Amino acid sequence: MSVNSLVGMQESEFNPVATTTLGRDLVAMPQTASQPIVSIKDLNVYYGNFHAVGNVTFDVPKNQITALIGPSGCGKSTVLRCINRMNDLVPTARIEGQIEYHGVDINAQSVDPVEVRRRIGMVFQKPNPFPKSIAENITWGARINGFKGNTGELVEKCLRQAALWDEVKDKLNESGLALSGGQQQRLCIARALAINPDVILMDEPCSALDPISTLRIEDLMRELARHYTIVIVTHNMQQAARASDQTCFFSLGENRMGVLVEAAPTKQLFTNPSDSRTEDYITGRFG
Ligand SMILES: Nc1ncnc2c1ncn2[C@@H]1O[C@H](COP(=O)(O)OP(=O)(O)OP(=O)(O)O)[C@@H](O)[C@H]1O
Ligand SMILES: [Mg+2]
Repeated sequence: MSVNSLVGMQESEFNPVATTTLGRDLVAMPQTASQPIVSIKDLNVYYGNFHAVGNVTFDVPKNQITALIGPSGCGKSTVLRCINRMNDLVPTARIEGQIEYHGVDINAQSVDPVEVRRRIGMVFQKPNPFPKSIAENITWGARINGFKGNTGELVEKCLRQAALWDEVKDKLNESGLALSGGQQQRLCIARALAINPDVILMDEPCSALDPISTLRIEDLMRELARHYTIVIVTHNMQQAARASDQTCFFSLGENRMGVLVEAAPTKQLFTNPSDSRTEDYITGRFG
């Protein structure tokens, strides 16, 4: 089965009842290849009185891998979680500014955060399969999100896309927790794909993995970027340099507020950064 035939589950396979305001707004949006899929404008994030992230602005280009790098505590995970409204789940969190997805303000009152999270999926640092079978890890979320198609096909499609099918096809009914760490992370990627997103957010997805599993995930990301848009937080600068198209370097400003120092094509940022703070970080003088 070619990758092309694996991707792009039809919206019609999902229950139309699950289509919310965000879905209707999107139908009306004219799409062009050059339009950023996510556009972040003057984002400020507060946890209670703490101003965690200040005035962050950057675009996420479609079908590219954008890496967020920078020292611990500079707000990478915070920014990532804002992109699919996961930060809504933190009671003290408050944001100012705008995040547009296909030109739609995801924080607008009319937008359903559940629909945002269906379209903008997430893979976490620590592989966290459900305590269910490998197959159910794929089908459970898809069903909840209104999937009405053939679940056997869905399982195969997603596991192939996540480069895991050959390793698990004979044990689909065994627990997802019985897999190795690298396999569990690919299962989590397969699970994210099963709800038919077009953006996938990954927060340090390889930090718990060995170098071989890490390279497998990087290869997988490159393959997935042909059809999806990926934003990845990584502490591994070689990984950002190897695997991403665009890199955003964050640093700590006054009062430990996270700021975006520069966003640039990855090659440019690593060979010819425009800000001395970036140069200090990538050459290991800071952080
Ligand atoms: N739920 C929260 N409540 C209060 N403060 C928080 C919360 N989450 C993050 N912060 C604070 O916001 C700042 C940014 O945190 P964040 O986790 O986004 O950083 P990060 O760049 O991802 O760091 P790391 O590289 O260590 O994962 C930090 O000062 C952190 O302590
Ligand atoms: Mg983090």
